[in-house]
Amino acid sequence: MDRLDNAAVFAETVLGIVPHAGQARYLLDRHPTKTLVGGRRSGKTISLAIEIAFHAAKAVHAHRPFRQLLVAPGIDQAKLLIAAVARLIRQSPLGGLIEAEFSSPFPELRLAGGVLIFVRAAHEGGKHLRGHAADRVVVDEAAYVPDTVIEEAIMPLLADVGGELVLASTPSTKGSLFHRMFERGRSGTDARVSSFIIRSADNPYIDRGYVEGQRAEITDRQFRVEYGGEFLDQTDAVFRWDHVVRCTGGEQVEAGAHRRCVIGWDPALKRDRSGVAIIDATGKPLRCVHVEDIRGRDFVEQVQRVAELARLHGGAKVVVDGTGQGAVLVELLRRQGCWVEGVTFTTATKAEIVTALAVAIENGGIILPPNRDLLDELRFYEARAKPSGRIEYGAPVGGRIHDDLTTALALALRGVQGPPQARTFADAGLLPFLTSSRGAKTLAVGPDGLPDRWSSWPWDG
Ligand SMILES: Nc1ncnc2c1ncn2[C@@H]1O[C@H](COP(=O)(O)OP(=O)(O)OP(=O)(O)O)[C@@H](O)[C@H]1O
Ligand SMILES: [Mg+2]
Repeated sequence: MDRLDNAAVFAETVLGIVPHAGQARYLLDRHPTKTLVGGRRSGKTISLAIEIAFHAAKAVHAHRPFRQLLVAPGIDQAKLLIAAVARLIRQSPLGGLIEAEFSSPFPELRLAGGVLIFVRAAHEGGKHLRGHAADRVVVDEAAYVPDTVIEEAIMPLLADVGGELVLASTPSTKGSLFHRMFERGRSGTDARVSSFIIRSADNPYIDRGYVEGQRAEITDRQFRVEYGGEFLDQTDAVFRWDHVVRCTGGEQVEAGAHRRCVIGWDPALKRDRSGVAIIDATGKPLRCVHVEDIRGRDFVEQVQRVAELARLHGGAKVVVDGTGQGAVLVELLRRQGCWVEGVTFTTATKAEIVTALAVAIENGGIILPPNRDLLDELRFYEARAKPSGRIEYGAPVGGRIHDDLTTALALALRGVQGPPQARTFADAGLLPFLTSSRGAKTLAVGPDGLPDRWSSWPWDG
């Protein structure tokens, strides 16, 4: 068989890389539209890189100009993909085909005969994608790209030339565009689309112990999504994934003393994340400009870091969980010269700040950074109705899943919005869990239509 007939053979004989079985199945397929769902570390990016190199080599061989556009939610992820492609080609006998390699402003690889590989990020509503014709577009981490960007900015690029499209990612939630495309390929109803799935355990090139270790760390449901490639059912979700992804599109702005910022901090020492989130409230929509996990240092050092961030962000106000020992942190921050507000967490205050964040995300009132830890916290964040009728918020029980960056973000938003206004039940009803019969049955509702326990605030007065 000719090496240029088949990307799997090409990988092994030209690039010197042996695809694992799941990768080979994907590489052998030549449908014009393909989806690749994979668990974490399952070998998605390498599969894409092999196939991109394969198409480039074929085009050079055929003396045919060919443009491949590589897209990822943020520019850093897009750079990882083109770097993998460049590495594969450079290390192979095809290294000499590279005519030029640029890293700025966007990485680009030029091969002989007008064969081009270039990258763009999908953020800012896909504005960097518009106006670029391409014969083939490859989207890595497609679940983190808003549906509208795929539909309105990516698909039109291919329309004129009838080009090829690949969407690869860890799974998103059911009902998303990525899920629908995946199902279309699975069902065989569309002759143009094919779909593939690779599980983390299929990749023999990663430490098996790592994947098994994760099984003990996270819930079964999260494991099936993150490592088993299953799409997530979001019935208990507080933050709808399509809304979260839509909020990630914004332009990032530089931190600066002239901006009005608020810092939220959900402190922890070791086990949990010690979440810090900074919201720039200078204009609308609000922008979360920074998230950071500062665990692993003692509290004095953490206080110093938060105070430093406050200084860097124009004397930002700090809103910190002041429950219990948190009162000490409030005091320590004051001594560092910070403007601090401590929030005492009760079920009611937690509900309020989380609801406010959910509403802001639902309304597109906040721009989120493409920070995977934060986005994954939001994706799995739950509201659970307890037998007592209380609603408990947080990461799923039964695993070491974090929710501390989310709490920090909610605290920062609380600092921006000030003491909460009572919301109408209809506002709160934006949350899917309240519109499902599960939660609603257990809520005690007062005469004003508000849940009973929301009528007073512990920090009032
Ligand atoms: N065919 C292969 N031969 C050798 N190593 C491989 C192969 N496929 C994947 N790997 C290695 O496995 C690891 C994971 O691969 P890759 O980064 O492609 O996975 P991914 O699914 O994109 O991961 P992530 O979820 O982190 O994005 C990397 O160290 C990569 O080099
Ligand atoms: Mg990857």
